Amino acid sequence: MITIKNAKEIELMREAGKVVATLYDYIEEIIKPGMTTYELDQLAEAKMRELGATPAEKGYDIGVKGVPPYPASLCVSINDEVIHGVPSKHKIIKEGDIVSVDTVALKNGFNGDAARTFVVGKVSKEAQRLIDVTTQAFFEGLKYCRAGFRVGDISHAVGQYVESQGYSVVREFQGHGIGRDMHEDPGIPNYGKAGRGARLEPGMTICVEPMVIQGKPDILELDDGWTIITEDGSLAAHYENTILITKDEPEILTMTKKDKQKYKVK
Ligand code: MF3
Ligand code: CO
Repeated sequence: MITIKNAKEIELMREAGKVVATLYDYIEEIIKPGMTTYELDQLAEAKMRELGATPAEKGYDIGVKGVPPYPASLCVSINDEVIHGVPSKHKIIKEGDIVSVDTVALKNGFNGDAARTFVVGKVSKEAQRLIDVTTQAFFEGLKYCRAGFRVGDISHAVGQYVESQGYSVVREFQGHGIGRDMHEDPGIPNYGKAGRGARLEPGMTICVEPMVIQGKPDILELDDGWTIITEDGSLAAHYENTILITKDEPEILTMTKKDKQKYKVK
């Protein structure tokens, strides 16, 4: 069921979104070579709680036998890890890595969800281009995040753009509606046909989240039941925001300082 948020609920969605944006501004400052992904997760969790929210990913259960509930506040996926990298005391962030972070803040009963791929120190030109294309893919989708367009219009725009740049989109995971639940209807694939799927309406809140691979689209799941890696070992990047559909311009609820400047959004 797609939920339409009223004025009060929209205000609470903005608050949850602001926590996530502030958290990414913070991570941008503190992420350093030599740090473990566990340390990053611990610092982020403390910051999130300081901001009055709880980490919604922690304890999240997909209900598959043998897969433990998600143990951390962040997903931290390095280089060829695509998504759902589980923070570990044994995983050290190195100079030249690209690090995808995905997190969800729950505040006053509503969720904010966003992802960013951070560069650590100096990274290769190719890695930077992958990140830039992944971010731009989100903004290509955003052009269709307006009342009257359909989910397929977003999917098509994202997928077409990524492939036009010579990269692959992940097909097994997708964007989604969001609200009281982290994942609500509709599902928003990163590929598809324009003109298909649910029609967007003011008051809908959705997450558009391109997951992009440098090489082939195929992925593998590690034995931890969570971590997704590229099959060919090539790099992957992720970019996600929570978006409010309005009667005109969409409102991005999880916009960081850096991206506000770089992509000239409010
Ligand atoms: N935050 C992810 C998303 O963008 C979901 C993460 S699953 C979890 O939809 F188990 F890590 F929480
Ligand atoms: Co999401």
